[in-house]
Amino acid sequence: MITRETIDKILDATRIDEVVGEFVTLKKRGVNLLGLCPFHNEKTPSFSVSVPKGIYKCFGCGKGGDAVSFLMEHEHYTYPEALRYLAGKYGVEIEEEKPSPEQQEVLDEKESLFNLSAFAQKYFHEKLLESDEGKAIGLTYLKERGYSMETVRKFGLGYALNQWDAFVQTALKNGYKKEYLEKTSLCKSKDHQLYDTFRGRVIFPIHNLSGRVLGFGGRILTSDKNKPKYINSAESDIYHKGRVLYGLFFAKSAMASSDNCYLVEGYTDVISMHQAGIENVIASSGTALSADQVRLIRRYTSNITLLFDGDPAGIKAAFRGIDLILEEGLNVRLVLFPDGEDPDSFALTRRPAEVRQFIQDNAKDFISFKTQLLLGETSNDPIRKAALIKEIAATIALIPEPIARTLYVQKCAELMQIEEKLLVTEVNKLRRKKLGGQQQAPQPEEDHLSVPQAERQGPVHDSNDWQEKEIIRILLNYGDKEIIFEVENEDKRMEEVPTRVSDFVVQDILEDKLDFENVQCRTIFQAFAEARESGASPSEQTFLNHPDQQIKSLAIDLQTSPYTYSSNWEDRHRIYVSREDEILKILVIEAVYSFKLKKLEKMILANQEHLREESSRQEKDQDKILRLMEKERDLKAIRSAFAKALNRVVTK
Ligand code: GTP
Ligand code: MN
Repeated sequence: MITRETIDKILDATRIDEVVGEFVTLKKRGVNLLGLCPFHNEKTPSFSVSVPKGIYKCFGCGKGGDAVSFLMEHEHYTYPEALRYLAGKYGVEIEEEKPSPEQQEVLDEKESLFNLSAFAQKYFHEKLLESDEGKAIGLTYLKERGYSMETVRKFGLGYALNQWDAFVQTALKNGYKKEYLEKTSLCKSKDHQLYDTFRGRVIFPIHNLSGRVLGFGGRILTSDKNKPKYINSAESDIYHKGRVLYGLFFAKSAMASSDNCYLVEGYTDVISMHQAGIENVIASSGTALSADQVRLIRRYTSNITLLFDGDPAGIKAAFRGIDLILEEGLNVRLVLFPDGEDPDSFALTRRPAEVRQFIQDNAKDFISFKTQLLLGETSNDPIRKAALIKEIAATIALIPEPIARTLYVQKCAELMQIEEKLLVTEVNKLRRKKLGGQQQAPQPEEDHLSVPQAERQGPVHDSNDWQEKEIIRILLNYGDKEIIFEVENEDKRMEEVPTRVSDFVVQDILEDKLDFENVQCRTIFQAFAEARESGASPSEQTFLNHPDQQIKSLAIDLQTSPYTYSSNWEDRHRIYVSREDEILKILVIEAVYSFKLKKLEKMILANQEHLREESSRQEKDQDKILRLMEKERDLKAIRSAFAKALNRVVTK
């Protein structure tokens, strides 16, 4: 672990223009430097670097941060990796603190598993390229599949000899422990005999984000119906299936630069697409897509295009994927491949340009996709249509952000030729149900620290403090925008009063004397509260460039959340811009109400706890108990008023 002192030394030595300058050509423009943004495609430069402030900011795509975040974003380094890079560049000697013995043990064990996996990958790869069996069977098979040598090398493909324990013996001889051989599931034991898990199979190594191997898939080469076509490493301390995406290491740069990714079924699809020159491809591989995987993707892009075979299994998987992706606040499009083809076969039998064209021509948004599939092109059956509308409404209701929800409602209404209001009602009914679940206080016997499932569905990740983060996200992203409130003036006439979002939010929360539990959120909120008195809002750099690493990363995270109002919204949905402030108003009010509801929830729980304590005393203070009961009643009344108000906003 790098010491705080070293981190400061590194940051002091770092010059943003020198760091960014290695990747972007910068030209002086006024006090700043300007270049073409490396994070999105552009022809006129809108990527600005400020040396005195030590930050960069793209006015096109909104990305911004300091040298460390630039390296994390551009080179996909982790925080320590970025620091080490800078230390190397500026010749700062790194001092490390010794981790505790417990930390060390966990680190050592993981490191051992990684080392063994790296050894195994090298072994299988060598066997594929150098052994007679590997060349004759494994390599021949891969070549017949259409893979070039370049592809085989890039993905580190391998071959496991068709022998009982060839790998195990080699590994043991090289000093790898039996314990780790079993923990990585590279070997198994039977009657105290160790044997190889992968035998007579071609091997697909699975990499983590920084390119280290954490597991393997192995494809059989015979047509033995009794054996599974693919076997995979079991879960281990380094390999968690739900948190890994096959191909991400090779795809992440292309995902970020194209701001999209293709999600396919498995190894062969990823590899064949790469060979066809399409590199932003990943696979969930073997398991259904998980929320963790979607969040991994979000680090690089908010746009996912699902590529599936058109068979029933493929369609079912696509439907599940749609809901999950939308629920996580990302955008989803879909492409179905013609009967009997998958991305693998398609990519290998067409020219790259054709593959691209096909995807481009056939990518549909989820509403068109569902409509077309479920309704059929010609069906006008009103009952089927009604069922489909319900089905689509259910999916739209999953979308956390009101702005995106509104857009999809409009799109669906147009496509299905129904009245928008009708669909809004349906979606809101479902939202209410969801919010209803959220407002129920946990039963007393329930563990109060656990978070009810419904509460985790916020636009801001899987945290139990998303209400707090949502407030901060709104302040950071929309603080300077105006929303219009209708207020009765002295002549009893309604008057439109434009109000700055940050003024409204800050005042409303301060008036109720509510506080933030998340320390970073609290600090940022306080800065807004203080700035309100001086009339100026904190500048973006204040937090992007904050000395506290956690605040900085929260600010970056929240400012780059999907559906960022300023950039995406206006570009993509120009036609709806007239309604911008109205939707923003709903967004703001929903956030403030949700925040307050959460606080009330906590107060009620604390009060109940207090009440339980008092009631279990030997000598009861009846007065106090009565007061607590009254307080509970009052709090619940307020909560219910808020819940109603929130429903009104959401359903308006
Ligand atoms: P053929 O088309 O028969 O040559 O087989 P394939 O190796 O192309 O596999 P298949 O078409 O059956 O599967 C489609 C995709 O899913 C491929 O990318 C496979 O890598 C992947 N896949 C298939 N079965 C499994 C499995 O059991 N586990 C994992 N992890 N991936 C699989
Ligand atoms: Mn196949």
